[in-house]
Amino acid sequence: MLTHTPNRKTTSQAVTDYPLGYTDAEHQRLIRQAALIAPITERFFREAGIGPGQHVLDLGSGMGDVAMLVARLVGSSGEVVGIERDPNSIARAQARVAAAGFRNANFLNTDVNNIATNRPFDAAVGRFILMFLPDPVFVLRSAVRLVRPGGVVAFQEPSWAPMLALGARLPLWSRTRHLIHETLLRSGANREMGLALYSAFQEAGLPPPKMHLEMPLGSDADFIRLTSDLLCSLRPLAEQHKVSLRELGDLDTLSDRICSEVAAANSVVSLIVVVGAWSRKSATADSSRGEPAESSESVG
Ligand SMILES: C[S@@+](CC[C@H](N)C(=O)[O-])C[C@H]1O[C@@H](n2cnc3c(N)ncnc32)[C@H](O)[C@@H]1O
Repeated sequence: MLTHTPNRKTTSQAVTDYPLGYTDAEHQRLIRQAALIAPITERFFREAGIGPGQHVLDLGSGMGDVAMLVARLVGSSGEVVGIERDPNSIARAQARVAAAGFRNANFLNTDVNNIATNRPFDAAVGRFILMFLPDPVFVLRSAVRLVRPGGVVAFQEPSWAPMLALGARLPLWSRTRHLIHETLLRSGANREMGLALYSAFQEAGLPPPKMHLEMPLGSDADFIRLTSDLLCSLRPLAEQHKVSLRELGDLDTLSDRICSEVAAANSVVSLIVVVGAWSRKSATADSSRGEPAESSESVG
């Protein structure tokens, strides 16, 4: 059974500090983004060994897209538990899970720093969550503790550097991405959490992870609108951190103007760079510490 330990000191920010916020528009953007990168996440989870019958923990479940993807992979004999601290996001995720007919996906309204459970999971996964945490290694370490020896830890996080490097021929798109990047930077989010997964996994007591990077590219209006919608979600934070968006002109027409720029260059742009890292917890790990045990005795 999963429980919530409300009195435990948390290292995370307050819910209101989450940089992308919880507007309806942001929720819709998350759902559209999730649809676009679902094939990348599915390939990654299959490679990591997520499969039928497993019990999986999903950290930072948002609108429930990763949880539903996992629910499909583990099937009716498996289960996924999504951890999310925003109650409205959970309500929407639950409604979507019910509408999609999944009975093996549940959500727990708690902070990822505060999860307590009395039974081990076969895997802990997450997508675009560690980048927002002040102490991602702390959270990874507690996730590792919840995974049985020999189980899987698999996370996808972004890397912005390749995306910024690609925009030189497209000034408006490039400025938009730079201003998003600057806003995230000033908010404290780690835009390079993807590459940082390599050391974070090891600091959390896991073997060096297998990793790869994928960058979806596109030029159509829906694809490009995801970038201008991300900027709109970040707008209050940009104002708070004094990142001026004035040079981008009217944000209502930004997406159309980027589309024209991309069409004129007969080019494509990227939406997000997804870095995946996965590792297996040592089969002889001491699950109370999330680290390899001194003795070779298996914990089961
Ligand atoms: C960018 S969204 C990603 C959602 C989902 N994993 C996906 O890829 O579609 C990050 C989610 O993590 C949640 N989150 C952020 N910090 C959290 C924390 N400390 N504890 C629990 N959830 C958190 C946010 O509320 C948000 O719903």
